[in-house]
Amino acid sequence: PETGSLSIVVLGASGDLAKKKTFPALFHLYRQGFLPTDEVHIFGYARTKISDGELRNRLHSYLAPAKDASAELLGDVSKFLQLIKYVSGSYDSEDGFRLLDKEISEHESLKSSAEGSSRRLFYLALPPSVYPSVCKMIKTCCMNKSDLGGWTRVVVEKPFGKDLASAEELSTEIGMLFEEPQIYRIDHYLGKELVQNLLVLRFANRMFLPLWNRDNIDNVQIVFREDFGTEGRGGYFDQYGIIRDIIQNHLLQVLCLVAMEKPVSLKPEHIRDEKVKVLESVLPISDDEVVLGQYEGYRDDPTVPDESNTPTFATVILRIHNERWEGVPFILKAGKALNSRKAEIRVQFKDVPGDIFKCKKQGRNEFVIRLQPLEAIYMKLTVKQPGLEMSTVQSELDLSYGQRYQGVTIPEAYERLILDTIRGDQQHFVRRDELKASWQIFTPLLHRIDKGEFKPIPYKPGSRGPKEADQLLEKAGYVQTHGY
Ligand code: BG6
Repeated sequence: PETGSLSIVVLGASGDLAKKKTFPALFHLYRQGFLPTDEVHIFGYARTKISDGELRNRLHSYLAPAKDASAELLGDVSKFLQLIKYVSGSYDSEDGFRLLDKEISEHESLKSSAEGSSRRLFYLALPPSVYPSVCKMIKTCCMNKSDLGGWTRVVVEKPFGKDLASAEELSTEIGMLFEEPQIYRIDHYLGKELVQNLLVLRFANRMFLPLWNRDNIDNVQIVFREDFGTEGRGGYFDQYGIIRDIIQNHLLQVLCLVAMEKPVSLKPEHIRDEKVKVLESVLPISDDEVVLGQYEGYRDDPTVPDESNTPTFATVILRIHNERWEGVPFILKAGKALNSRKAEIRVQFKDVPGDIFKCKKQGRNEFVIRLQPLEAIYMKLTVKQPGLEMSTVQSELDLSYGQRYQGVTIPEAYERLILDTIRGDQQHFVRRDELKASWQIFTPLLHRIDKGEFKPIPYKPGSRGPKEADQLLEKAGYVQTHGY
């Protein structure tokens, strides 16, 4: 691994994302020894004028929640917080960034690893509207200047734009300042344990290789549900809606991993080449394969306009036009304020031809990968009902992580992805052409929704969403299985 000083700058340090995700992920990496104190320094940067101490105080409760604050944890938190320095400045003027650069350079010369190279990681926990100016400031004021090597990298969060044109504009602006290997576009779903398992499951198991195609698979569902609404985020959410918030990025990335061909190798570029091919093979979305919903009460949020047309629920069927998937619907479904919190992939196989057991009524084989909560992989099978009669029943081959990997902590997505950015591994980050292809798929539909041509159907909070979505699922060929 590379050595030398490592400066991690969290821009937008007082915002929600930084407090809830970025700093806690850095803390966990620190606790596991991935951020050695003789190399690392962390800088928070934001407009608010506060002291180092105030930032540290604000972060404390996010790092050590009161319920499990053991003495050991508290000790680690205070050591970690000492690594953090705060710099305040604006996002579009050089003064603040010059000051930041001065602080970073000072830290670099102080660390015992000063002999080595200088590594500078800029994490933009900021709204995309300021990305171009912040990137320009970093480029002008804060680049790594060491003769001994090192790097400067920027990490950007979604939403990367609002449609194809704005995303491309953003990509072009950032692309003029940084090379693609310096840009890490985070989609935190790619950091989830079971999402990372998809390529292994598919390509390291002989049994799936011959089955994974249109001859055997009837339909694929990729589902995201949350049992809470847009609480506190209505203002942001209303400008984006569920398709931009979840489907165009998180669910589409999962679809790529489920549908892509085997990459030449595990090199990031080989994997991302295959993902782009899937995205480019997706056919235009058909109107009768879309159901939108909005939960009742969503507009009560004072930051949401009274006549908002923004969907908080959507089911969209994508069709991949290639030899493997022609005719297989990929049903992407996401919703807020539903009856449960769950993200899962359901691969449903076709009926058994010439079924002598008449077991169709019990349902089909289904391969389920539950991303969260309670990570699990299971296969629904038809087996003989134990007993004297020859009757059949649906059961499961079940790999529940909680039981199988007791005591193993599954890393948080952000933790893993930040470590990848330090290591320079772009496999689990979105490449520019992937981003473009994914916006291409949804932009026509999004524009029609924005113009009010597509209306969301109201649904009750705590329900399954609009019943029209279940009807669409059935029409697409999904058969509800009845397990034991
Ligand atoms: C974010 C969305 O990207 O993902 C949120 O903006 C959503 O609206 C969140 O709640 C869900 O992430 P997770 O990891 O809890 O499934």
